[in-house]
Amino acid sequence: MSPRNDRMNPELHIAGRLPELYADVATRVQKVIHTAIGRDGRCSVVLAGGGTPLGLYRLLGAEPYRSTIPWGKVHLFFGDERMVPPQDPDSNYGMVARELLAHLSIPAGNIHRIAGESDPRTAARSYEHDLKVWCGSDSPRFDLVLLGVGEDGHTASLFPGTAVLGESKRLVAEVFEPRSGKWRVSLTLPLLNNAREIWFLVAGIGKADVVRTVLHAGDPDPRIPATCIRPGNGPVSWFLDREAASRLG
Ligand code: 6PG
Repeated sequence: MSPRNDRMNPELHIAGRLPELYADVATRVQKVIHTAIGRDGRCSVVLAGGGTPLGLYRLLGAEPYRSTIPWGKVHLFFGDERMVPPQDPDSNYGMVARELLAHLSIPAGNIHRIAGESDPRTAARSYEHDLKVWCGSDSPRFDLVLLGVGEDGHTASLFPGTAVLGESKRLVAEVFEPRSGKWRVSLTLPLLNNAREIWFLVAGIGKADVVRTVLHAGDPDPRIPATCIRPGNGPVSWFLDREAASRLG
């Protein structure tokens, strides 16, 4: 068993109810953005898909964050996308556009969406190319990555048993999700784990078991992909509501 170092000792932030969780995370997002802009003149944030972050995006799109965050210097990326057009109700970009982007004054060039309307491989290769150009590097380092976790332990579109979990070179890859029989595009572990900060945002009693499983895992386990999120630059932070944290003991 490898010694647990701080990279594997996650930071836990447990809020009472969901509104408190969103408020805590929004405040911290603002701090990360200001720090990154102070250091680099810009900030890169990878947004999570799914339903949990919706309330956070709504909060960030409203006052005071709408006016106090310098959105002109913030670049928004996506951790994964379902291969559907933006107007499809399943589109992660579509959800972010409705809940956040529609309320912000942010340049269109700051929004880096995955082309869900394309074919998966083309969308993945094109996104990877755009990422490298934007970062000016073959190993982009995001300032902040927001992730959710599914009850099966998936995160982004890294699903248990999928080959993408073994990807060591590509930064963005197409993923066939066996349960739904649908294609997705996801950032891969080498790219995600290169981020400065990675935060899981998890809520609800339905996630209590997987949160316990992931946080108690000793080593990365591809059967539980969220355990493979091990950033090289520091610990993972978990932001949980009381229900999602209820089985941590
Ligand atoms: C997606 C997400 C996915 C999500 C988890 C949790 O596109 O669905 O990237 O990884 O974060 O499935 O989803 P909920 O927040 O809806 O529970």
